[in-house]
Parts: sequence; structure tokens; C-alpha cells
Amino acid sequence: MYTQALDLPGVQATDSAVTEAPCVGFDEKLAADIKIEPSDPMPDAYRKTLIRQISQHAHSEIVGMLPEGNWITRAPTLKRKAILLAKVQDEGGHGLYLYAAAETLGVSRDTMVAALLDGSAKYSSIFNYPTLSWADIGVIGWLVDGAAITNQVPLCRCSYGPYARAMVRVCKEESFHQRQGYDLLVAMMKGSAAQRAMVQEAVDRWWWPVLMMFGPHDQDSVHGATSMKWGIKRFSNDDLRQKFVDATVPQAEVLGVTLPDPDLKWNAERGHYDFGAIDWNEFWQVVKGNGPCNRERMAARIKAHEDGAWVREAARVHAEKKTARQAH
Ligand SMILES: [Fe+2]
Ligand SMILES: [Fe+2]
Repeated sequence: MYTQALDLPGVQATDSAVTEAPCVGFDEKLAADIKIEPSDPMPDAYRKTLIRQISQHAHSEIVGMLPEGNWITRAPTLKRKAILLAKVQDEGGHGLYLYAAAETLGVSRDTMVAALLDGSAKYSSIFNYPTLSWADIGVIGWLVDGAAITNQVPLCRCSYGPYARAMVRVCKEESFHQRQGYDLLVAMMKGSAAQRAMVQEAVDRWWWPVLMMFGPHDQDSVHGATSMKWGIKRFSNDDLRQKFVDATVPQAEVLGVTLPDPDLKWNAERGHYDFGAIDWNEFWQVVKGNGPCNRERMAARIKAHEDGAWVREAARVHAEKKTARQAH
């Protein structure tokens, strides 16, 4: 999920826009749980909110290829290399489905990519953390893709048809990502003491940033209520975070790792795990561009874009020639 964390103050549709005159048939479709399609009338604020969310989601998939791509050449076996290659390639595919879904709302891919590269569009804060050991690849699959699934499964029921349909396929692939990560960690935990220590160290580093992926607490979430009303979002940030913690604690026990939170304990009264306070200062620092790898990630994306200029130029010339031939 790469999307909950990104409800930033001041960069999205305003509440005043929500009060504009309703579009014909829009509210009725929402009420009847009928998908809104690209040619349907929709409020401008709904369109803008979707463009922001889907494009940020697409950017997250693309930037998310970098931390793991870093380990493809260092995978310990051919099998693990093949799995990691497939996984990173899937993330690139997710970015493409999502850019295509956003384009149905009338924004071009060039515009979206330009916004990523000039820093005006955000991507998930989690991808600004470094991958320091091979165990990070397992922990990313288990926890980061696990959190992504928790966030993204409800998006399969999102009110906007192209986004909802893209998410069905994305979620199936995310499920493979989560399993390959857990499988990698199980193998390492059956290995040497040094391997087990490597897994624990990676869990210690990733746990809190993963909890931050669900975004600010509900009372601090800028447009959560509006997105819920529009059927873009089905559960609040805190509900999703709780769901993730409840599902993950038993998995950590099976794996034999400790989650780095002394306040983490089962609350029989609530029927949920209680957990400690999140360091929101760290979260906002990362979102504002001051995380451990923000500059490195952006530099890599800008370089890739510049290196690909000749491909775009060749495609443009080819399209021109094709059109000219057809006209002839
Ligand atoms: Fe993905
Ligand atoms: Fe994934």
C-alpha cells in the first residue's frame, strides 16, 4: 500500500471541492455499488483524488523496484535470483497497470512521470529505506508486501472501475511476493546462528517503517473521510494497521523472530494486539525527503529517465512514420 501514507496536507483536492453540485447519476451509482467508469460523469474532486492516489501508487511500484533490484546480482542461489527477478518485474508491471488506469482519468503518463521526477508527486515512504542484507529481501516480501496486501485488497472494491480491476491482478501477484519473502526467511531461520541473527536484525529495522506505511492516525488523516464516502477507501488507516499487526504477530512467532516493540501484547478485551507508539517525526521526515535513501532513489529514477530518452525519441519517430505511411 502504497497509498494510505500519502494523504498529504495541502497537495490534494480540497474539501470545498467535495461540496460541488453532484454529477448526474454519480451518487446513485455509488449508493448502488456500481463502478464508475471513465466516460461517466464524476465530480472534479473525485477525479483529482483518484489521479493523485493512483499515480502515487504507480510511482511507489516503480521506485519500489530499486531497493530489491539492488540484490538481484547478489542472490545466493539461482532459484532465489529467478524468484527475485520475477518479483521485481511484477512491480514494474504493477506500475504500468496503474499508470494506464490513471490515464483513463485524462492525465498523461508523461505528466505523471514529470511530477515524480520534479518531486511534486510522492511515493510510499517505505522505499526510502536501504536494503543492507539478504535478509532484507525476505523481510520486504513478508512485511512490506504483506502490508501492501492489507491495504490493497479493499481497493479491489474501489468505486472506480479501472483502478479496482487493476488491483485484482496486482493483489494476486502481491500474495506471491509475500509468500516468497516468508519462504526465504523460513529457510534462513533453519540455517546458521549468523543467518538467524541477520533475519532478526532486518526485522528490527523494518518493523516500525512498515507500520508507518498505513499512514497517519485517523484523527490526523487529511482526507480519509472523503475517500471513504466516495468508495475509494473502504477501511481507515488505523483499522488497516491493526489488521496487519493482528495477522503478523502469529507469523513472527512461527518464524521465531521477535518484533521490536515491548508494548506489543494481546488485549483479550479488545480482541486485538496492542502495540507501542509510532515515531511520526521519523515518518514526516521521510515523506519530506529526508529519509535515508530519498536522494538516492530520485537520482536513480532521474538517471533511468534520461538514459531512456533515446527510446522515447525512437518511438516518437516510428509513430510519426507510421502515421505518414497510413496517410499516404
Ligand atoms: Fe506491487
Ligand atoms: Fe509486491
